Amino acid sequence: MKLAVIGTGYVGLVSGVCFALGENQVICVDKDVEKINKLNRMESPIYEPGIEALIEINFREGRLSFSTDLQESVRCSDIIILAVGTPSLPNGEVNLQYIEDAVIEIANAMDGYKIIMTKSTVVVGTNEKIRKMISDRTTHPFDIVSAPEFLREGSAIRDTLHPDRVVIGLNNPELVPIMRQLHQGYTDNIFVTDIRSAEMIKYASNAFLATKISFINEISNICEKVGADVTEVAEGMGMDRRIGSSFLQAGIGYGGSCFPKDTNALIQIAGNVDYDFKLLQSVVEVNRERRFMIIPKLRESLGTLNGAVIGIWGLAFKPNTDDVRETPAREIIEMLVAEGAIVKLYDPIAADNFRQQYDHPQLRWCSLPEEAAEDSDAICLLTAWGVFKDINLQKVANVMHRKVLIDGRNVYTKEQIEGTGLSYYSIGRPQLSGLNDSVVIEAVEMNL
Ligand code: UDX
Repeated sequence: MKLAVIGTGYVGLVSGVCFALGENQVICVDKDVEKINKLNRMESPIYEPGIEALIEINFREGRLSFSTDLQESVRCSDIIILAVGTPSLPNGEVNLQYIEDAVIEIANAMDGYKIIMTKSTVVVGTNEKIRKMISDRTTHPFDIVSAPEFLREGSAIRDTLHPDRVVIGLNNPELVPIMRQLHQGYTDNIFVTDIRSAEMIKYASNAFLATKISFINEISNICEKVGADVTEVAEGMGMDRRIGSSFLQAGIGYGGSCFPKDTNALIQIAGNVDYDFKLLQSVVEVNRERRFMIIPKLRESLGTLNGAVIGIWGLAFKPNTDDVRETPAREIIEMLVAEGAIVKLYDPIAADNFRQQYDHPQLRWCSLPEEAAEDSDAICLLTAWGVFKDINLQKVANVMHRKVLIDGRNVYTKEQIEGTGLSYYSIGRPQLSGLNDSVVIEAVEMNL
């Protein structure tokens, strides 16, 4: 099949590359000339493990091309995939401007029957709006499909090629075999539903995963007070298949381009129909406070933060991405700066992106994790990169001044910490944290 994918961000580029692997003819379109030039040089404008090799294979074998010419790309394609950004407006609502601009151009370019497939995350009812916008501008026949995307940054190729399910919302049943053919080769597990339900599935899925994270983070707070270990609790809970073990890692909370945006958007969607989504509001609130829990742990172990040297390990919102959108690191670092700390920053990939968003005279940029540890009073691990998991903690402790390690992602085991001389504080694991010994004793004494 001939496809045009509009937008070369995470969703568009990964979908384009994966559809090309499935023997389709794909043109990836973007109005950003620099991005298209990069792609034509076989360089990816996004950081995603494995993507450049797939771009190159598809390009060399003639299945994938790149263009800034949306109208021409639409004319040469049967299926037009909308994968442009849908960022948040300041009030949490979704900004549909890029979608609307692209739809107008698509409508103006149409020269025959087309399938318009929306992969961008859009509020319920948007695909119907798209249908109206197109039919107001052209007499050519077309169909609308809602195909929300569930890929995760850092494992986007694997998620796309081996999805748990593909959700397809449509109202013309004749499209079902075409959708099956499009996904042939990588999944048969296609859930066909109506367009509004497909739009809702995306928001409900992300909101539910965010709820799991905030739930386990709340449990971790209680674990700290009663002397239980949240990692054990999560493992035991997750063995129940009704609960499942994923998205139960306690830590400093979720960030990224999707969960914060989609949870706020769903609260807005509910609000627009006079529904007060209290549960999701709490999920967002719990997550917002989460990142600041690092600060009292630091204050308790160091006293004042004014003049303290704090090493930060990890700036990306999660490992295996250079994405710093809504990263918890940002507000933590801003707060440390406001308290007068000198902050030494290290991230294997995301430091440049972070620095473009935020820089300050109290920040020191480091090119190795050990450099961020040198002469520091404390290290805060904020992103669970593999490089931190495997680091020699004894060597790290040896170069630190006061030897405090705050593990915001529960990366280390007791064995890794023992004998290093580090004062180690993690999340919801009081027995691994000198700081909470008194709490554990208190809990035992109270027969909790
Ligand atoms: C998410 C969804 O998983 C994906 O389906 C959707 O298409 C886009 O949004 P992504 O934002 O790439 O994907 O990252 P994800 O791996 O889901 O993690 C999101 C955030 O939650 C990260 O900040 C991560 O650190 C945090 N997280 C995740 C936890 O704190 N605990 C967990 O157990 C899992």
